[in-house]
Amino acid sequence: MLTLSNATLARGTTPVFDGLSLQLNERRIGLIGDNGAGKSSLFRMACGLDAPQSGTVTVQGLPASRINAQRPNLVGMMFQNPDDQIVFPTVQEELALGLTATGLHRRDAIAQARAFLATRGLDAWAERAISSLSQGQRQHVCWLAILVCQPALILLDEPFASLDLPGQALLHADIAQAAQQIIVSTHVLEHLRGFDRVIWLDRGRVRADGAADDVCDQYRADVAKRTAAHAATPR
Ligand SMILES: Nc1ncnc2c1ncn2[C@@H]1O[C@H](COP(=O)(O)OP(=O)(O)OP(=O)(O)O)[C@@H](O)[C@H]1O
Ligand SMILES: [Mg+2]
Repeated sequence: MLTLSNATLARGTTPVFDGLSLQLNERRIGLIGDNGAGKSSLFRMACGLDAPQSGTVTVQGLPASRINAQRPNLVGMMFQNPDDQIVFPTVQEELALGLTATGLHRRDAIAQARAFLATRGLDAWAERAISSLSQGQRQHVCWLAILVCQPALILLDEPFASLDLPGQALLHADIAQAAQQIIVSTHVLEHLRGFDRVIWLDRGRVRADGAADDVCDQYRADVAKRTAAHAATPR
């Protein structure tokens, strides 16, 4: 579904990817790696926010740069920082945004957003000002805004980061139930248990790629080794 062929990306003056190639077809894929490894950058290329300087990025064969104009509901991305995603002042308007992008009239989109919130027991959130929500609640709204639109490919960039434990459990269950292809970047490796595939990115390169448990164990072992080396360094 998502294909990167020899993609090269620099952000500002920082080189991030130098010829990255990946074919991502599995239903549940995890993306892990240190801060700055390139997880968010990969997602930004996949939804067309950042264009590779060379190489190609396609979703279902469509160049990522054309997704917004040609198939706005092909890819839904939940940003690492909710404030980068949220556009509108109220919850119902934010949820309606993606629905209007698929051609729904604004009034119908708002009605659908309200009905969706009601199915989640969140009727009271419909007219809430986003600015009145906590960080975790805003992150939850971002997830709902993706879910209500049902895009074919869902990219979740550290979606658990601000969620409380019930919120994490709910999102974990939502992910397990969703019919779509979902790619999740996270530092909470437990949430990737049972995934079809996990990719460990290390400074813009694929360090390991395979079964979820194997790749997470390799990453944990490497982190333990580096932490031990750091602790042994004289200061
Ligand atoms: N807006 C930006 N301008 C310039 N360089 C950037 C920008 N955002 C990220 N970078 C650089 O791009 C590289 C990859 O960053 P990216 O945000 O993709 O990492 P990440 O794996 O998502 O990290 P994290 O776990 O902290 O979210 C890093 O070297 C980072 O410093
Ligand atoms: Mg990131």
